[in-house]
Amino acid sequence: MLAISPTDRVFVLTGAGVSAESGIPTFRGVGGLWRNYRIEEVASPHAWRRDPRLVWEFYSMRRRVAGAAKPNSAHLALAKLEQKLQDRLFLCTQNVDDLHEQSGSMRVVHMHGELFKSRCDRCSRPPFHDTNTYDPPAELPRCECGGRIRPHICWFGEVPFESERIFRALDECTIFMAVGTSGVVEPAASFVAHVSDRARTIYVGPEEPANLSAFTECHLGKAGEVLPEFLALQTWKI
Ligand code: APR
Repeated sequence: MLAISPTDRVFVLTGAGVSAESGIPTFRGVGGLWRNYRIEEVASPHAWRRDPRLVWEFYSMRRRVAGAAKPNSAHLALAKLEQKLQDRLFLCTQNVDDLHEQSGSMRVVHMHGELFKSRCDRCSRPPFHDTNTYDPPAELPRCECGGRIRPHICWFGEVPFESERIFRALDECTIFMAVGTSGVVEPAASFVAHVSDRARTIYVGPEEPANLSAFTECHLGKAGEVLPEFLALQTWKI
């Protein structure tokens, strides 16, 4: 069970593994799927320039899968933790689904964007809510300015969202926990090294991540099984 003192600040980084038990495939690791697609071929500015239809086909498929998914007990345990800790919990996810929000988390930071948002690839129109799917041979959506509407996702080679807030929260945290992330995609893979000289660092997932050596603790198991108990916050005072 995780002991959290009144002065602790907790940073939780979630990855695809936290949504695996909700039926959303991970990219790598046990049961790593999306296997009909090589992720770099459909999730990069180059792919978008070369074949926007293929990119939308991939994200349309992901919108359908995520749209049917429901939060699991790992999402719920993290939402409960937020209710207790309020702004002393910083929940940063690499996931683009909305399962943290569906489970009640109010302050989720989506560093890789959001699946149910789109934006123009040319003008500064802000990202907007979009649950549409665009499968060939459907016309691809266009902005009023003539630009193409693209998924609001941080692709390979692009800069993750909210970096400044994220690094401020990393600097402030005393407990860092990563859940269900393979520890290979930067910059998230290096967050643990950024804090490991002063924070307690914990990994939760069924397999050891690539950056395991930077963690002080590793709890092997599925997030939906480990987190409810691990975060069943004893009698700590907050
Ligand atoms: N509970 C916890 N972890 C799990 C579970 C589970 N039930 N099932 C699988 N995992 C773990 C796997 O062991 C693996 O280590 O989840 C991890 C998933 O790794 P990735 O698929 O690499 O996901 P992630 O680390 O989030 O990927 C980072 O890569 O392609 C990009 O933008 C994409 O955000 C994604 C980024």
